[in-house]
Amino acid sequence: MTVETFIPTHAPAASDNTVHQHTPSDSIKKLYIETQGCQMNEYDSHRMADLLGDSHGYVLTKDPKEADILLMNTCSIREKAQEKVFSELGRWRKLKDKNPDLVIGVGGCVASQEGDNIQKRAPYVDMIFGPQTLHRLPTMLDQHQEQIEKPKKEKIKLVDISFPDIEKFDFLPEPRVEGHKAFVSIMEGCSKYCSFCVVPYTRGEEVSRPLDDVLAEIVGLAERGVREINLLGQNVNGYRGETFDGGICTFAELLRLVAEIPGIGRLRYTTSHPLEFSEELIECYRDLPQMVSHLHLPVQSGSNDVLQGMKRNHTIDIYVDKIAKLRAIRPDLHLSSDFIIGFPGEQDHHFAETLQFIEDLDFDHSYSFIYSKRPGTPASELEDNIPEDVKKARLAKVQKVIKQSSIAKTDAMLGTVQRVLIEGISKNDPNVLTGTADNTRFVNFIGDASWIGRFAEIEITEIKTLNLVYGELLNLEPDVA
Ligand code: SAH
Ligand code: F3S
Repeated sequence: MTVETFIPTHAPAASDNTVHQHTPSDSIKKLYIETQGCQMNEYDSHRMADLLGDSHGYVLTKDPKEADILLMNTCSIREKAQEKVFSELGRWRKLKDKNPDLVIGVGGCVASQEGDNIQKRAPYVDMIFGPQTLHRLPTMLDQHQEQIEKPKKEKIKLVDISFPDIEKFDFLPEPRVEGHKAFVSIMEGCSKYCSFCVVPYTRGEEVSRPLDDVLAEIVGLAERGVREINLLGQNVNGYRGETFDGGICTFAELLRLVAEIPGIGRLRYTTSHPLEFSEELIECYRDLPQMVSHLHLPVQSGSNDVLQGMKRNHTIDIYVDKIAKLRAIRPDLHLSSDFIIGFPGEQDHHFAETLQFIEDLDFDHSYSFIYSKRPGTPASELEDNIPEDVKKARLAKVQKVIKQSSIAKTDAMLGTVQRVLIEGISKNDPNVLTGTADNTRFVNFIGDASWIGRFAEIEITEIKTLNLVYGELLNLEPDVA
């Protein structure tokens, strides 16, 4: 679980939003955003910053003490994450005691799940919005300011956690470009309803953005120097985007269209589900050189019994079969996954199957979590019957096996040639460039700053750490634009 603060990297841009136009006479106000949880939240936080920059002229700060507005973009995937919200809000309350004009807003999945209950526990919170209503933040902020002077009984509660379809994207400003990589959200929500997971309840069911909107956004990003796109959604392979003529575009079809956009030299996506990991999608790895040889495909357990209890709707054999097909096309595939340890009913032999499965499939960097009972999910009805120390011991074992495998994968890069997107200059040496390989390792090598934004073939000559290797330039590709 990461907690990230946004660092100001840009001044507010001109707005295309006619309702909330920032006027230069406003004094510069500061916004602090704390982001918890997944990449979807990180994406949303960037959009929130863009939006309030455009509408009210807010500039990001990394210091909550100097902020005029504090926003928390929350995560409720596990209990610990949820508890963190209230401990952090307690700290923010002290800031508000000192500065009563400070505005506090809570968004994200905890907001979606708890709604105005948040204000029962933390009455100093002014605004509550969900993942699908963050585009309404400027209006909420205006409403908040309008009612500041009003007597308490005339104040309306500023809580909006509805799911107004995919409306959000129609109201968000064009994403700002920082560097040569960008996330593009292609869908919202999840309709898989795994028995342990809150996402379908907090972010709603799967809704895809129309194809034209996605393509236009990527064309715009490519024109502004973006070379690597990461398509984002809870289940990107469930993408069913409406086409201009009323048809439906699948995820595999979308990948083929994105690969044709001039300038896009590399394609990733996060996250997908094994069930919809289709033949059509596997064929994209054969036909599209832009697709990285890296896949994050959550499986959660190596035991069919546990998978059944989790309502993942597929067996281990199905997963193994799909990966075998993909590896036949991409023998250098780096595969990573998510695992839940200690799901109700997970016995020693089930866990042993998971360990064996991890070795058999040869996973790279993967995430593993102890099962957390989430209110409202079907699995919360099951008895959480595995002692905490057993769960912890199992987690430690899984993490050890995965780490060893990841180290072996980095070590095996020695002597290989990697395609690298050159992203910047090393902090430690101005003659050294740094970039990323398909498998997400950082690759440093000697080169010229004018190459930034291009792809290069680099021969790996030294392994520095688990995530950092050194190499030598073999070939600099012409700019793909
Ligand atoms: N869309 C992704 C998962 C999103 S949630 C998918 O296809 O599976 C990210 C990860 O959090 C999940 O893969 C799962 O490993 C973990 N997770 C979700 N709910 C959890 C819970 N109740 N307890 C522990 N881990 C959980
Ligand atoms: Fe959660 Fe399963 Fe969807 S893990 S996000 S319900 S695929």
